[in-house]
Amino acid sequence: MDSRRQRALRQFIATDRLLGVEAVPLGALATTAPPASAVPAAAPAVPRPAAPASPPAPPAPSGASLVAPPRRATGPSLDRAARLRILADIDTNEVKSCTKCELSRGRTHTVFGEGDPQAQLMFIGEGPGETEDREGRPFCGRAGELLDKMIVAMGLKRTEVYIANTVKCRPPNNRTPTPAEIEACWGYLIRQIATLQPRVVVTLGAPASKTLLNTTTGITALRGSWQWFTALQPEGPAIPVMPTFHPAYLLRAYTPDNRRKVWDDLQKVMGYLKGELTIN
Ligand code: URA
Repeated sequence: MDSRRQRALRQFIATDRLLGVEAVPLGALATTAPPASAVPAAAPAVPRPAAPASPPAPPAPSGASLVAPPRRATGPSLDRAARLRILADIDTNEVKSCTKCELSRGRTHTVFGEGDPQAQLMFIGEGPGETEDREGRPFCGRAGELLDKMIVAMGLKRTEVYIANTVKCRPPNNRTPTPAEIEACWGYLIRQIATLQPRVVVTLGAPASKTLLNTTTGITALRGSWQWFTALQPEGPAIPVMPTFHPAYLLRAYTPDNRRKVWDDLQKVMGYLKGELTIN
């Protein structure tokens, strides 16, 4: 085995340990760059739908730090029971019967979200896949297995975070949700975020990142640098956002480089949650 392959194998094993991934697809060792076909088609630019409060434009993407908006996330002054009540009310009385867009026609179940209503960390994905549509729970298929491992690698349990999606119904054939579909669901997502007011949000993939950050910038450029979700202002806090690759993309483009990037992003989030890293 030449030294390039040895290096690649060592990196696979190191990230495997960190992400808890057990299988190493040997084919992936042949290359360190994802094949062009593995890169998901660029999602259409998603204008962030109108939020309840009109937010100031989010700051432009930058490197390790950003100038903080005036208010920091402190969490709403709601106890656990009140948050659970609000979330259950939105789900039961609005989402489950929602017919705001075409996605409602093809669904088996709506997928509202789940987790600790007092979570400091919220993950936001794209939309339910086949397994999620069948079970009515977010990230319970293959991408969910990898997300679970990422959460464990961060030293957390799945029950300690909150997981939601940009759209609550499965897009046909797992296609990217359209801007209209994302807009139809925005009122639900923003109220989930407003109820939780997590200390940090990790957006998984392009649609979630573009929607929360109100930007057309692609995920490759966004990932890894802190951003701010400002749509709850001025009444609510600005919330730090770490955009990263979607686990489903990672499964398709299973390269050492991509896995190291995601792990770097998650380590920044852990550093922030542990108070070891400040975002200016
Ligand atoms: N992909 C997502 O974005 N969300 C899910 O819930 C499952 C897969």
